[in-house]
Amino acid sequence: KPIPVITIDGPSASGKGTVASIVAKKLGFHYLDSGALYRLVALAAFRQNVALDDEQSLANLAAKLDVVFDGGEIWLGKDKVTDEVRSEKCGNGASVVAALPEVRAALLARQRDFCQLPGLVADGRDMGSVVFPDAGTKIFLTASAEVRAERRFKQLKEKGVCAIFENILQDIQERDKRDSARSVAPLQKYADASLLDTTKLTIDEAVDVILKRFE
Ligand code: C5P
Repeated sequence: KPIPVITIDGPSASGKGTVASIVAKKLGFHYLDSGALYRLVALAAFRQNVALDDEQSLANLAAKLDVVFDGGEIWLGKDKVTDEVRSEKCGNGASVVAALPEVRAALLARQRDFCQLPGLVADGRDMGSVVFPDAGTKIFLTASAEVRAERRFKQLKEKGVCAIFENILQDIQERDKRDSARSVAPLQKYADASLLDTTKLTIDEAVDVILKRFE
């Protein structure tokens, strides 16, 4: 019997991380935040002064990444880096290293290791298209760039971080462009994914839609 897998792909700040982790919790499934792996490669590169265009060294970093995901916390070696990997710096760095085929290849097996009983919810850009092509439920979660920028803006304000809406929107648009234009695993709704536009949905509503599609 195959292990049930739900993939949730989509652009940055679409809420897929929040939605995916709630769905995983409700079903008692494992959760893979694949974006965190790309962010960790970028963070490791910053720390070890590896240039973001040195594909071979970055692929080595990716293959050797000493990472532990534990109850919502992320550890890189002995350091807790949960907040640092979520920074815009790591997000932008991630989208640069994610365009390199050797880096993507180095992370493939590591991602597939997450597929264990009783099941997996995986979020990213290519979960349903490349990493788990046999997944039974494939969702492409999106929302307008403006709404995504608003959500991120609110999130930052709640954390007490000073932010400028126009900058966030521009950042999101640039990241969309880079993620969509790359030749390997570009961000796009592939044919067998079902579209879920959350522009007008709350998180709970999006979770319910996914649980229904899974059933
Ligand atoms: O989802 P998140 O914003 O954490 O992802 C950070 C970056 O990592 C994305 O902008 C994208 O370039 C890259 N990524 C990817 N493939 C994935 C997950 C993330 O290319 N499966």
